[in-house]
Amino acid sequence: MFSCGATRATSANAPSVRINATITGAATSSAAPNIPANVCCAAATPLPIMPKLTPNVTDVPAFARAAEEAGADAVSLVNTFLAMAIDVETRRPKLSNIVGGLSGPAIRPLAVRMVYECARAVRIPVVGMGGIASAEDVLEFMIAGAAAVQVGTASFVDPFIWGKLLDGLRHYMVRHRIERLADLVGSLDVSAREQVWTSS
Ligand SMILES: Cc1cc2nc3c(=O)[nH]c(=O)nc-3n(C[C@H](O)[C@H](O)[C@H](O)COP(=O)(O)O)c2cc1C
Repeated sequence: MFSCGATRATSANAPSVRINATITGAATSSAAPNIPANVCCAAATPLPIMPKLTPNVTDVPAFARAAEEAGADAVSLVNTFLAMAIDVETRRPKLSNIVGGLSGPAIRPLAVRMVYECARAVRIPVVGMGGIASAEDVLEFMIAGAAAVQVGTASFVDPFIWGKLLDGLRHYMVRHRIERLADLVGSLDVSAREQVWTSS
């Protein structure tokens, strides 16, 4: 299936192949990191390959490393978090599928943490997403280690969000005298926090 899709993307002159290595309904904490690896091997194409990782596992960096070892050119994360909601009056699930994927601002701190961990675990670029709705959110992901970001849910709420994000990034760059946004990638400063810990 992945091989077939990659072949079609290649012949359609697509710039890259983004493979969804998430099995939203099935991926659990016991899912094996060889899923993205197998996917990369199966995708016979000269195009760049970027598996998208599920957050619904215990050790996301293990999946990122497996993807890198299998030849992925980048990884992207996170997909939605498995979640559910219940109507207490009827005691019925609010979703027809009983469980579904949670996205948007609620998942951002979880996604930022996973991006941070994966960026430290691999050398290939990490593309971050999960609840980005403002320029500050973009910056948070980039400082955590994302080389690029994607916006899903917030773009459904505001299809014209892009100008707001770009303006916010420009203001930040001016305020902090930053010439290249890339210089921010992985620039998290933990030194002050470490000093507080060691002095207490
Ligand atoms: C309505 C909807 C449809 C989605 N469809 C897909 C999909 O087909 N493939 C995929 O990999 N991720 C899909 N996602 C997940 C998003 O791409 C993204 O990984 C996730 O929602 C977190 O980002 P966000 O909070 O900016 O939406 C979907 C998300 C939403 C809300």
